[in-house]
Amino acid sequence: MSALDPPSATIRWLRTIRFTAYALAVLLAAGAGAALWLRHDAGMEQRLGGMSVAPSVQIGGPFSLTDHTGAAVTDATYRGRLMLIFFGFTHCPDVCPTELQVIAEVLDGLGADADRVAPLFITVDPERDTPALLAEYVPVFDARFLGMYGTPEQIADVAKDFRVFYRKSGDLEGHYTIDHSAGTYVFGPDGRLRLYMRHGETPAVIAADIKALLAGK
Ligand code: NI
Repeated sequence: MSALDPPSATIRWLRTIRFTAYALAVLLAAGAGAALWLRHDAGMEQRLGGMSVAPSVQIGGPFSLTDHTGAAVTDATYRGRLMLIFFGFTHCPDVCPTELQVIAEVLDGLGADADRVAPLFITVDPERDTPALLAEYVPVFDARFLGMYGTPEQIADVAKDFRVFYRKSGDLEGHYTIDHSAGTYVFGPDGRLRLYMRHGETPAVIAADIKALLAGK
């Protein structure tokens, strides 16, 4: 058989297979490209102001504390709502009042959606922050805040789970301040940590992120 002979049935068959494989590869590449593009697009839509937390990150395990009304609560108490958690203490001169004010503005900005949010202020000063003091303090910023307290051991455990640093500073006959990490954790209605808001984030950005999470993003 010479090169000028018409292709045999076998060669025609091989060419058909080669063409089919080529067409399949092109289709697969196009499909993969489209999927990537769509994912990229969805990612852009979901871009949030806070730091997104990957599902694999283990921060903030189950906790058992007492709210400022004296009710025993756990993380499961707030399932179905967005849980905002930040740590501080009532004697804090600057950072905590600012953060409480910011979250209060966020709640105002959310309107009726604020009912779907549980804002929790966990004390890192269990010695001075009695339930009575917390009950007086947090509603000054917004009646919806819950001040959370526990024994020093409970607070230490929760802070460890949340990777929150706190340390007494300048203790002088009972007068001291507490250095502590600032920032707000945002948990989804399913109890999964979704965002970390750095201290200094604006109420508008936080409210927009919360609305996105409430909308199921
Ligand atoms: Ni503070």
